[in-house]
Amino acid sequence: MSTAARFISFEGIDGAGKSSHIDAVADLLRQAELPLLLTREPGGTPLAEELRGLFLHRPMDALTEALLVFAARRDHLSTRIVPALAQGQTVLCDRFTDATFAYQGAGRGFDLAVLTQLETWVQNGLQPDLTLWFDVPPAVAAARRSAARAPDRLEQEDTEFFDRVRAGYLARAEADPSRFVRIDAQQTLEAVRADVLKVVTERVLARRGAPT
Ligand code: TMP
Repeated sequence: MSTAARFISFEGIDGAGKSSHIDAVADLLRQAELPLLLTREPGGTPLAEELRGLFLHRPMDALTEALLVFAARRDHLSTRIVPALAQGQTVLCDRFTDATFAYQGAGRGFDLAVLTQLETWVQNGLQPDLTLWFDVPPAVAAARRSAARAPDRLEQEDTEFFDRVRAGYLARAEADPSRFVRIDAQQTLEAVRADVLKVVTERVLARRGAPT
């Protein structure tokens, strides 16, 4: 049996509804007494949270977006994620590099080779063990967003942009099928919750103590 996933990322277009499910995963793992780091990107450190504020609210081109998110990611990895993994914590991260490939790469049409180079420099081969991709049609996500909050800079993009972002996630999932699990986020909240907790139970809790 494979080892338990310890670095878990959560992805999807804005409005897919991932945030409340991350809290439910955290509750499940805390009940099982797993030491946890609950964090997000862009963000997760004081420096990266400052970069997040700039990223979400200042106009900029796609290369600047990519450089800012990878700068934030570098700080986040080196000061929080890598030390947490080394101490045996399970890391739950709301978005990671798949978001950069989906939003800046597929959404903005930015050069994937440049993103791949930045990924190599910044991550040095480190990837999540498990990525839960909350997949939902962009029209459904847009309706959920408009009911929930005022849009930030990326959330103001049109449905075609989110069609491309969704396709970007699909391409990443197809390129790494053992890491990705697609969650049908168009279902009811309860059905999505049940799917998410089942995957986490199988890929994290049931594999604890398995030989490496
Ligand atoms: P959040 O609202 O889920 O926290 O995500 C913040 C926004 O930043 C969301 O619109 C996705 C976007 N984003 C990127 O464009 N590239 C990235 O690399 C990351 C991590 C997020």
